[in-house]
Amino acid sequence: MHCISILLLIALTNITNAYTHRTNKTCTVKASGTNSTDDAPAIRAAFVECGHDGKVVFAPTTYHINSILNISGLSNVDIDIQGKLLWSTNIPYWLNHSLPVGYQNQSTAFILSGNRVRLNGHGLGTLDGNGDAWYEWIRQQPNTSNYPGRPHQITFAGLTDSLVKGVRFIRSQMWTMSIIHSRDTVFEDIFVNNTGNRVSSSNTDGADTIYSTNLLFRNWTVHNGDDSISFKANSTNMTLRDSHFYNGLGIAIGSIGQYKGAFETVENIYVENVEFSNTLHAFYVKTWTDDQNGYPPNGGGGGRGYAEGMRLRNLTATGLRGAAFSISQCTRFSGAPGVGNCTNSQFQVRDVEIEGLRGTTKSARVASLQCSAVAPCMDVAIEGVDLKFANGTAAGSYLCGNVGEKRGWECTGKVCEGGSATGEC
Ligand SMILES: *[C@@H]1O[C@H](CO)[C@@H](O)[C@H](O)[C@H]1NC(C)=O
Ligand SMILES: *[C@@H]1O[C@H](CO)[C@@H](O)[C@H](O)[C@H]1NC(C)=O
Ligand SMILES: *[C@@H]1O[C@H](CO)[C@@H](O)[C@H](O)[C@H]1NC(C)=O
Ligand SMILES: *[C@@H]1O[C@H](CO)[C@@H](O)[C@H](O)[C@H]1NC(C)=O
Ligand SMILES: *[C@@H]1O[C@H](CO)[C@@H](O)[C@H](O)[C@H]1NC(C)=O
Ligand SMILES: *[C@@H]1O[C@H](CO)[C@@H](O)[C@H](O)[C@H]1NC(C)=O
Ligand SMILES: *[C@@H]1O[C@H](CO)[C@@H](O)[C@H](O)[C@H]1NC(C)=O
Ligand SMILES: *[C@@H]1O[C@H](CO)[C@@H](O)[C@H](O)[C@H]1NC(C)=O
Ligand SMILES: *[C@@H]1O[C@H](CO)[C@@H](O)[C@H](O)[C@H]1NC(C)=O
Ligand SMILES: *[C@@H]1O[C@H](CO)[C@@H](O)[C@H](O)[C@H]1NC(C)=O
Ligand SMILES: *[C@@H]1O[C@H](CO)[C@@H](O)[C@H](O)[C@H]1NC(C)=O
Ligand SMILES: *[C@@H]1O[C@H](CO)[C@@H](O)[C@H](O)[C@H]1NC(C)=O
Repeated sequence: MHCISILLLIALTNITNAYTHRTNKTCTVKASGTNSTDDAPAIRAAFVECGHDGKVVFAPTTYHINSILNISGLSNVDIDIQGKLLWSTNIPYWLNHSLPVGYQNQSTAFILSGNRVRLNGHGLGTLDGNGDAWYEWIRQQPNTSNYPGRPHQITFAGLTDSLVKGVRFIRSQMWTMSIIHSRDTVFEDIFVNNTGNRVSSSNTDGADTIYSTNLLFRNWTVHNGDDSISFKANSTNMTLRDSHFYNGLGIAIGSIGQYKGAFETVENIYVENVEFSNTLHAFYVKTWTDDQNGYPPNGGGGGRGYAEGMRLRNLTATGLRGAAFSISQCTRFSGAPGVGNCTNSQFQVRDVEIEGLRGTTKSARVASLQCSAVAPCMDVAIEGVDLKFANGTAAGSYLCGNVGEKRGWECTGKVCEGGSATGEC
């Protein structure tokens, strides 16, 4: 076993203390039973009463959430979700009231925060963002990317020593969950399906981590059309394992380097036993250039820092749509005023190791690594690759620019340099 994963296991053992703590008072939230009555006030009241050393139960019924929830400062609480939380589709209300997440001008419908929180859906409890209305609405907007006020379904903010288990997240309004200022927490047996019923969804990431450390993601299933999971600014000591991603973009690092002058890092990302079905990539890294073009969420650049210590083992792909592993240091989202110099980023990508990447692909590209000339990618190992087209021919293309210290592979051609939102141009 790799030394980093042993250290992570040690770091994560104290989380198990949170699993078993005894609790006293139980509040079962009463549902109004109609979407014309907002259940959010009853939910807030239940957490005031039972959010410390207690238990809050959502019965096997539907709860209508018509207003923002900021459930903060919980301690030693069990949250038992047996039914469904269903968000309203009053888009003007949410655009006006969704709560700031604290990064990239993102906002959210629901903040949950506290210490020793055990949220369990037992494989049935569901958070339903009612996203079909959002997926149709966003298509009518001039810019569909990171629309201001379009809320994440839930934000775990300052969640520590906690467990989120057996919960289903469906049709998120935008990103499914942001996890910020959180640590020492396990997210396991999680099912996400942001597939639209009427039109396809966009901007519906499975999870995004920011300013967080020591998180374990185990047994996730994500069906979506954007990042399956994304480790963003100051995500350190993350483990992701035994998971299956469908149709999305794969595992992302970033985007990062978006805030001029800010120093941000991604460190110690450990991934093992992950399957990808029809995703764009298995793994990709996206950084901004050194030139600032506009402001977040869709513009930016000029950030510094590094992403290092990324170890991925035993990745299995079926029908990848793009390069299995890609790096773009020339991120550009639609709505930004322009793109900078694709090779001038001061943000460095280094110490990446992919060991075991098998399966089928529709792209000849095993790797497409567009790195900075100012801070070239260093120490990139790609080993144990067995990627084939459906007809059995091996995918053999490794495109690169500004990559030093390669292990297990050679560059076969020059990579495209150009603005990109999804890792390749
Ligand atoms: C991350 O893990 C490393 C090694 O396991 C440890 O030294 C470091 O303190 C951890 N960082 C945080 C922020 O917990
Ligand atoms: C929980 O029970 C313990 C022991 O019976 C008691 O000391 C404590 O005050 C109770 N806590 C709450 C929040 O009721
Ligand atoms: C309640 O649901 C109906 C049917 O889905 C919908 O037309 C209506 O807009 C909803 N009302 C509210 C307040 O969400
Ligand atoms: C949005 O907020 C503004 C200012 O608080 C208020 O005047 C307006 O009525 C709100 N609109 C909706 C749809 O809530
Ligand atoms: C959420 O509530 C907490 C506690 O009341 C408060 O400190 C925090 O600022 C609130 N967050 C937002 C985004 O309003
Ligand atoms: C940030 O979000 C706010 C409200 O959600 C919006 O008014 C503002 O235009 C957004 N800023 C940018 C740069 O998109
Ligand atoms: C993994 O999570 C799924 C829910 O998505 C659940 O049905 C399954 O039992 C879990 N697997 C294990 C081994 O716990
Ligand atoms: C995901 O949701 C879509 C749309 O509702 C549905 O057609 C599909 O069966 C769901 N997939 C799974 C695995 O539940
Ligand atoms: C992010 O991490 C860097 C490097 O550890 C640190 O200098 C910076 O203050 C952190 N930023 C935030 C907002 O926590
Ligand atoms: C590799 O991952 C697959 C599924 O993701 C799993 O079935 C298999 O046991 C793993 N192999 C090893 C050696 O762990
Ligand atoms: C882009 O930046 C690189 C690194 O600083 C530099 O070598 C190159 O000349 C720049 N290209 C242009 C078109 O300015
Ligand atoms: C297999 O498929 C690839 C991609 O379509 C194609 O480039 C290649 O020529 C095919 N090989 C054979 C032997 O047909």
